[in-house]
Amino acid sequence: MRNKISIIGAGNVGASCALWLAQANIADLVLVDIPQAETMPVGKALDLLQAGPIIGYDSHLTGTAGGSYDGTENSDVVIITGGLPRKPGMSREDLVGANQQVITDIIDNALPRSPNAIFIVVTNPLDTMTYLAYKHSKLPKNRIFGQAGILDSARFAAFVAEELKVSLENVQTVVLGGHGDEMVPLLRYSTVFGVPLTEWMSPEKLDAIVARTRKGGGEIVNLLKTSAYYAPGAALAKMAIAVLTDQKLIVPCSTYLEGEYGLNGICFGVPVKLGRNGVEQIIELKLTDEEKAMAQKSVGIIRETMAALK
Ligand code: NAI
Ligand code: 2OP
Repeated sequence: MRNKISIIGAGNVGASCALWLAQANIADLVLVDIPQAETMPVGKALDLLQAGPIIGYDSHLTGTAGGSYDGTENSDVVIITGGLPRKPGMSREDLVGANQQVITDIIDNALPRSPNAIFIVVTNPLDTMTYLAYKHSKLPKNRIFGQAGILDSARFAAFVAEELKVSLENVQTVVLGGHGDEMVPLLRYSTVFGVPLTEWMSPEKLDAIVARTRKGGGEIVNLLKTSAYYAPGAALAKMAIAVLTDQKLIVPCSTYLEGEYGLNGICFGVPVKLGRNGVEQIIELKLTDEEKAMAQKSVGIIRETMAALK
């Protein structure tokens, strides 16, 4: 039987994710949006299907009209891309009021139809929305988690490669923590050709790249007047592929913590092993006191945002 991925929210991130996933030839895809979007998901899916003969992919794509979830039944993976993006001047945290209803609505509709699926959340504020989705769904924590760290690490890697004029292939970066401006880029674990970043550039240059990474989402919002979608869509696709291929891929993602990293009752970005059962292991890296302090700052922002949940 073919794998099925449902993407709930056929806006910029959802459609980009569908485009990357279609090219992976790994699953059939179903796009869903709200009733007011009318036939938009049907149109996007048809357009993407018609790119298949040109690009050479064979994934089957369908969209639903009028907010219907018919056709999502028995999905292997459900990707939650519904919700408002931020506009210039807004923080991700400003979206908590608008997007919490979106998360509960999507879980209420998608979960009964796909009770065995793995759920991946992207809606902002990411860590708080992942927490809400986890609590509301009552799923085991390995089956519901959020995307942020792959994107944040990729931004960091892209900036490093540009600065050093080296191939992206040589760069490995690690960003942990919440998906916000207090995220935690880990310099000791970030390397070029296996050599720590600190040996490749001056502290001032490194500080500037870290600052740009932390504000990487905002930089794009200011340029686009809405938030990023190609790279976020690609990050989601990478996670879904890791799940469906049982890849055992270690990536940072937002997952519910119960004592790991000394944290409890919060979804927070940490390295995990992704496979067919979702988050199969949480990897605990040793952090220095300075890194722990940065992580605590990020935790503080997430807990403040969680307090705004109704
Ligand atoms: P968008 O506005 O282009 O698309 C969002 C879509 O969600 C719209 O088509 C809307 O009609 C739909 N939607 C709203 N409520 C829904 C519901 N209850 N059920 C189904 N669909 C619903 O926004 P975009 O750019 O695609 O962003 C989506 C979300 O992803 C935003 O919250 C944004 O902040 C977040 N995001 C998170 C990133 C991350 O790394 N975690 C990166 C980029 C975006
Ligand atoms: C990003 O980092 C807005 O969270 C989104 O691009």
